[in-house]
Amino acid sequence: MRHPFEMLLPNPRAGRGIVVLAGRQEDWTGEALAEEMELVAGAAECRRREFAAARGLAHEAMRRLDMPLRPVLRAGDGRAPRWPEGVVGALSHASARRAGGAWAAAAVGRTDAARGIGIDLEWAGRVEERLWPRVFNGREREALEALPAGEWRTLSAGIGFAAKEAFYKLFRPLTGRWADFHDATVSARGDGSFTLSCEAELPGIPPVLEGFWARPAPGLVLCLLVLPEKGSSLPAGLPPSSPAP
Ligand SMILES: CC(C)(COP(=O)(O)OP(=O)(O)OC[C@H]1O[C@@H](n2cnc3c(N)ncnc32)[C@H](O)[C@@H]1OP(=O)(O)O)[C@@H](O)C(=O)NCCC(=O)NCCS
Repeated sequence: MRHPFEMLLPNPRAGRGIVVLAGRQEDWTGEALAEEMELVAGAAECRRREFAAARGLAHEAMRRLDMPLRPVLRAGDGRAPRWPEGVVGALSHASARRAGGAWAAAAVGRTDAARGIGIDLEWAGRVEERLWPRVFNGREREALEALPAGEWRTLSAGIGFAAKEAFYKLFRPLTGRWADFHDATVSARGDGSFTLSCEAELPGIPPVLEGFWARPAPGLVLCLLVLPEKGSSLPAGLPPSSPAP
C-alpha cells in the first residue's frame, strides 16, 4: 500500500516511538491476516476493504517498529481492537466522499512509549452546522460561530469532532467508562496542534491532553492523541517528519 501520509512521533526513551500511517483504501489490494478477516466474514465488500486496509497499515507500522507480524483481533468491548502484547494503537477509516476516495489510518506504538493512543479520520465538511449542537458544547459552539465562514471554520469543526472520536478510542479501552461529546472541549490551533479538556471522571486519564491534527488529503482531517507512558515524552506540535497540513 502506498502511504501518502506518514508521521513518526520520535520518543527518546522508547526508540522509534509511535508510527502513524494513512492511505487510500483503493491502494490496498491485499487482505489482512486470515484470523483478522474472519472477524468480518460475511460483511459487505466495502467493510472488508476498510477493515483490511486499516489492519494492513497497522502491520506496516509494527514492521517499522521492528515488531513481529501478529494479528490485531477484537477486544471483548464491542469493536475495540485487541493489540498484540507490547503494542498499543488505534485505527480509523473514512468512507469515500466525492473525489476524495476512501481512506484508512493506523497509529501504533510500543507499550514502553505509550499507554494509550487514539486516532480518527473525518471529512471536515461532513461536520455540518446542523450537527454542532449534538457534538459541541456551548463554549465550543460560541468559538466556532465567532469564526468567519470559510475553510478554517470548516476545518475547526472537523478537528473538534475527530479529536473527540480519537479521545474515545484512547480512553475507552483503558477505563471502560463513557464520556459524552459535551464533556470534552476541543480547541484547535492552526499549527497542527489542539488541546482537549475533559470534565468527565476518567481514572488515569489526565483532564487535559495535547493532540496533533493534519490534513492527509484536501478536506480530510486526521486527529491523533497519545497518552505517553510515564517517563517518556512526545514533541509539542507537529514533528518535522510530517507533511505540512
Ligand atoms: C467507536 C467510534 C469512536 C468509532 O468511530 P467512527 O468514526 O464511527 O469509525 P472509525 O472508522 O473512525 O473507527 C472505527 C474503528 O474504531 C475502533 N474502535 C471501535 N470501537 C472502539 C472502542 N470502544 N475503543 C477503541 N477503539 C474502537 C475499531 O478499530 C474500528 O475499526 P475496525 O472495526 O475496523 O477495527 C464511534 O462510532 C462512536 O461510538 N463514537 C461515540 C463515542 C464518542 O466519541 N464519545 C465522545 C467522547 S468525548
